[in-house]
Amino acid sequence: MERKETIRGAYRMTGENNFYDGMITCSTLSGKAVCRLVWAMNKAENDAYLEKALSGIPEYFSGKLLEVPVGTGILTMPVYQTMPEADITCLDYSPDMMRQAREKADRLHLKNVTFRQGDVGALPYEDDTFDIVLSLNGFHAFPDKEAAYREVFRVLRPGGTFCGCFYVKDEHKRTDWFVRHVYEKAGFFTPPYETTISLKKRLGKLYKAVTLGTVKSMACFACRKAG
Ligand SMILES: C[S@@+](CC[C@H](N)C(=O)[O-])C[C@H]1O[C@@H](n2cnc3c(N)ncnc32)[C@H](O)[C@@H]1O
Repeated sequence: MERKETIRGAYRMTGENNFYDGMITCSTLSGKAVCRLVWAMNKAENDAYLEKALSGIPEYFSGKLLEVPVGTGILTMPVYQTMPEADITCLDYSPDMMRQAREKADRLHLKNVTFRQGDVGALPYEDDTFDIVLSLNGFHAFPDKEAAYREVFRVLRPGGTFCGCFYVKDEHKRTDWFVRHVYEKAGFFTPPYETTISLKKRLGKLYKAVTLGTVKSMACFACRKAG
């Protein structure tokens, strides 16, 4: 319940004129327009996919969590506020995106979140380090997806959870069109993309207890590394 409220309320952290934050939370006028036009989603559907994507994290989680990529932190800093006992590490390639996440963490006085600039394809952590790896809206952007899958698996401890969400193709024609003609051209998205079926197969090969659902073109999943 608290998680649901946190997701719904995340938009309150949206900075003035921050187009990205408004879009990813489907909260500003322009953000709602993009959600509707590109993703065929309303605010309730947007909240629903985020809730599913975060459902792999237990309430009051107190272990070690890696979030990659953290982006501007709009979706997760309010969630981390509800997990003061957790040891949270946030990584992103872009210093600019991460600066915005750090500012939000500071505003919320989060003491248990650290930030590190880096590449998901070469994570600067030992094997079996994290209890949870969370990845929201990252795998459709990562240039080397095979390396990213490999690295997430490597740093996750046996029994640990990999969860998150990202775009999958072939679910909604209009979304596929925008991805190919706009997001890819702008460099926001990088092919190849999973389909729901290919993602299910991939996760099933590597992980146990896979749950996978889609909200329009957004796949949300949670799974456990054997151990
Ligand atoms: C669409 S944003 C998602 C951010 C955030 N998780 C969210 O849902 O709002 C994609 C992010 O992936 C980051 N990124 C792209 N390639 C990366 C890489 N190789 N390693 C780490 N982060 C990367 C970008 O800098 C960007 O912040």
